[in-house]
Amino acid sequence: MSESPLLIEDQGAVRVITVNRPDKLNALNSATLDALHHAFDDAAADDAVRVVVLTGAGPKAFVAGADIAEMADLRPVEGRDFALRGQAMMRRVETLPKPVIAMVNGFALGGGLELAMCCHLRIASDTAKVGQPEVNLGLIPGFGGTQRLLRLAGRAATLELCLTGAPVNAERALALGIVNRVAPAAELQAQTMALAEQLANAAPLALRGVLDCINTGGESAIGEGLAFEAAQFGLMFATEDMREGTRAFLERRKPEFKNR
Ligand code: COA
Repeated sequence: MSESPLLIEDQGAVRVITVNRPDKLNALNSATLDALHHAFDDAAADDAVRVVVLTGAGPKAFVAGADIAEMADLRPVEGRDFALRGQAMMRRVETLPKPVIAMVNGFALGGGLELAMCCHLRIASDTAKVGQPEVNLGLIPGFGGTQRLLRLAGRAATLELCLTGAPVNAERALALGIVNRVAPAAELQAQTMALAEQLANAAPLALRGVLDCINTGGESAIGEGLAFEAAQFGLMFATEDMREGTRAFLERRKPEFKNR
């Protein structure tokens, strides 16, 4: 059997998934897309996992895109299937019922930015560069880039990044709302793990409620989204963690959440 293109490690309740093809700047070939899909299925099913951190191996890249060598000779139907395969994996990440943080440790280009954007939060190293350079290859984004960037950063930024293909640095990515935070490269891991720990100690069903509202309600008309939010809010009153959280506040102590 060939070696897995991923490294998977648990640090307490935080699962760290690392794309591990550093000699190819962690480019996403079919095997890596499938391995990621399985890894996120496993993370969803494992109750011990509360948060996932996704990153790339080596000092240079998060993910430098879909694998250009694998794509170069595809025919149209194969190209469509490749896009659908990547999109399905990224939708799996986006709809995970627990938070996923992209630790963007370098280049996040093409499929790499698309992968970061399907995560719920993004922390970038101050050395990172992000972009959608597909037009330089005579291609367009195919793993959701035109759609998620539009929702994340608006039309002006999406048109600029996708039409010019030029990457932006971490500071500009932050200003455009593409990443949530920028950390000095030496502090990226510590800051990401601190955020992951914070989320791992929060009430899991409340986090899931927020993710569901934003994923499902956020794609609806405002009336439907608000109705969905009210229903999810009501559902929280069925959880032990909601009783614990409100009681702990009133008793001036720290809550202990149990995922129930
Ligand atoms: N697909 C396949 N292989 C890739 C890749 C990709 N998206 N990105 C980088 N690689 C490979 C290179 O071919 C090279 O392999 P080799 O050593 O066997 O020749 C290796 O990774 C290192 O990349 P290299 O280009 O030598 O590094 P660099 O530091 O000079 O440049 C980048 C870094 C990110 C600017 C450059 O690799 C690049 O532009 N990559 C493609 C980005 C892109 O267009 N992504 C969208 C794809 S749809």
